[in-house]
Amino acid sequence: MSKNICFIDGLEGILKYREIDINQLVELPYDAVSYLLIQGELPGDQELAEYAACLHGEREVNREVIDVIRMCNFNIDSIEALRTIVSFISQFDPDINDSSPEGNMRKAIRLIAKIPTIVAAYFRIANGKQPVPPDPSLSHGANFLYMLRGNKPTQLEAEVMEKDFILSAEHELNASTFSSRVTASTLSDLYSAVVSGLCTLKGPLHGGARAEVVTMIEEIACPENAENYVLDKLSKKEKIMGFGHRVYKTYDPRGTIFKQLAKQLAEAKGDMHWYNTAEVVENTVIRELVEKKGKPIYPNVDFYSGVIYKYMDIPPQLATSIFAIGRVSGWIAHCFDQYEKKKIIRPRAFMLDEC
Ligand code: SDX
Repeated sequence: MSKNICFIDGLEGILKYREIDINQLVELPYDAVSYLLIQGELPGDQELAEYAACLHGEREVNREVIDVIRMCNFNIDSIEALRTIVSFISQFDPDINDSSPEGNMRKAIRLIAKIPTIVAAYFRIANGKQPVPPDPSLSHGANFLYMLRGNKPTQLEAEVMEKDFILSAEHELNASTFSSRVTASTLSDLYSAVVSGLCTLKGPLHGGARAEVVTMIEEIACPENAENYVLDKLSKKEKIMGFGHRVYKTYDPRGTIFKQLAKQLAEAKGDMHWYNTAEVVENTVIRELVEKKGKPIYPNVDFYSGVIYKYMDIPPQLATSIFAIGRVSGWIAHCFDQYEKKKIIRPRAFMLDEC
């Protein structure tokens, strides 16, 4: 029996992928974590080298993809373009209808490798620039920032991006993973299952919250405005993006790590502005909802990751797509698990009341 893909203790704030704690996983390369999620075990040095070489060798997208990106309506969010392009590239995959484990693994590698290239190319073309070809020598995180900006990131930024992808990679049966899993349970192909995940992740109650956090932090603008902003939202019964969780009733362990990374970036850039603004938001929400009302509404995975995007000049329009770059490995792991079961997921309507 393969080790559980994911373990969450929502009361203690514990998260593990394949029985390894998230605090250990963020010290590994994303390639090793995607291998762990999909294969069930951490790769040895040789296995990792071979797997990474396959991944990095599949990063390029063909000419037609760039042509289709150029035809996109650039007023749409990048996640909407990504949904379209992932569906489009499936026709070029010779293994599209090969449902063997080997065929599915080849598709998995192409999806993990090409999604960052598509996101970066769309962003540059939408901003009147030429796409930057991937650099196979760079890590997943460093290569994405390189393709996005056209220059190599600092070591800290590359590390932060890598950790972002790891922290976003997997989270049990969240809405987008469940959506992918249901699609795979019908034995539909892996590209279709990933497109299902992309469509579901987009929602602001789910992956779309990260973009809303970036916009919220920009709207608040400075630490002095933060407390009144939160009090005003709460007085209108509006939700504060990046807070609360269906499973965590304490600090989301990913949020804690993201907060540390945001502080590192702020200190490295000598600009505590956005970090301090976020801290006032956090302290106000905790005081008003947790301490005064006993509601377990803590920062989730999206709050401080949104702050990190401010420091890395990543606009809100890219936030959900970046979430997808990390999460695609988790979707694929669950799809492979479902392919093995060969059982369709078909809940009864009364079960929805429990969801
Ligand atoms: C992700 O499932 C996963 O694992 C998801 C995820 C993953 O890795 O895949 O962790 C990623 O989606 C994180 C969540 C990102 N979304 C947001 O940050 C949007 C803001 N958060 C909320 O929409 C909400 O907290 C949810 C959707 C995350 C959870 O919603 P629930 O469990 O259905 O809780 P609820 O909406 O029923 O709220 C319960 C109470 C309500 O108050 P009362 O009506 O009881 O008085 O808590 C309040 C809510 O108003 N509340 C909030 C709040 N979240 C809940 N109040 C203010 N701000 C918030 N953010």
